[in-house]
Amino acid sequence: MTDSSALVLGIETSCDETAAAVVRNGREVLSSVIYSQIEKHSPYGGVVPEIASRSHAETLPAVVSHAMQKAGKDWRELDRIAATRGPGLASSLLVGWSASKGLARRLQTPLWAVNHIEAHIASVFLDPAAPPPCQAVPMTILVVSGGHTSLFKCRKFGEFELIGRTIDDAAGEALDKAAKLLGLGYPGGPVIDRLAKEIEVTSTSFPSGQVRTASAPLGNLRPELCFSFSGLKTALLRRLQIKPPDTAEGTAFLAAEYQEAVVNALVERCGLALDPEDRYLAVGGGVSMNSRLRTKLKELCRARDIGLLLAKPEHCGDNAAMIAGACGLGLGLTGQNVFTMDILPNWTAGCAKADKFS
Ligand code: KG4
Ligand code: ZN
Repeated sequence: MTDSSALVLGIETSCDETAAAVVRNGREVLSSVIYSQIEKHSPYGGVVPEIASRSHAETLPAVVSHAMQKAGKDWRELDRIAATRGPGLASSLLVGWSASKGLARRLQTPLWAVNHIEAHIASVFLDPAAPPPCQAVPMTILVVSGGHTSLFKCRKFGEFELIGRTIDDAAGEALDKAAKLLGLGYPGGPVIDRLAKEIEVTSTSFPSGQVRTASAPLGNLRPELCFSFSGLKTALLRRLQIKPPDTAEGTAFLAAEYQEAVVNALVERCGLALDPEDRYLAVGGGVSMNSRLRTKLKELCRARDIGLLLAKPEHCGDNAAMIAGACGLGLGLTGQNVFTMDILPNWTAGCAKADKFS
């Protein structure tokens, strides 16, 4: 699947990170530059789309030049330009996608449309210790971030079958909302992770977010492989109304207990999704940086005698190395008609092939 000649420039602007990277063979990261807009959004407690798109437009040219300089490559050496077409915020996607079209036309380089979720999957292969994708299948995949919480089954690399998803909030969103309620700032995941490290939590009274059949139209998905995190936030709100913590330790304990419920839900569903023939469990996305989650996933995989592929911390959150990596592994759409394609803010993973000629 890997095209051993591919030197790819990746561009990512799907949310609030402006990123560019140069990756060889889908695996070897020559440079990865990320400009995070967190400081611009944190006063608002979440991403403000207008601020995000304006900031992408202002910083993308410098971020791309920096990535090329760091990689020590000339524009003419690029074999492909890969950019995120979706899913994500429309106004943010538009900046990177349009700029990539312009750059690819000017350089006369093939353009690849990459799916952001498939790129989070590809991110685990940016670790040189990971096996080649074709040797990692069959595998179960969890993509867990601020915008997504989905489980996939992959029997042949490049074919991702959705087997579970959240029916409301994503896990990262649940952590971000909790941090806001607890007055811990934005983004919440990293703060809660840090506070929870100081506290030993063995159980949690927060709900496990199981999905009942009647909760949402799930199609063919098994409810036990789906997630519901919105009840957690309501439970936290209720606890804060009844008895708000009056010390920093009290707040940290509540945060740790809340995190435990999120982590348990993710690990339990992964355990249910694993099949005996699976070789690996692969986990990517911003929340996969969480230390408690990483520990519990290691325990799960050890107990089940299955390999665990975790993205390296620098490739968990949104970055462009995963976009270039996905393209180098053959994930995405290409051809002249890609230049006529628009962004797809709701693009689902696993649709790249079906969509090829649309
Ligand atoms: O992948 P990502 O950068 O963007 C999306 O595609 O959504 O993920 C961002 C999410 C945020 O919700 C953030 O709170 C969460 O990842 N996050 C974490 C940690 N670091 C970032 N969640 C838990 N523990 C962390 N250490
Ligand atoms: Zn993401």
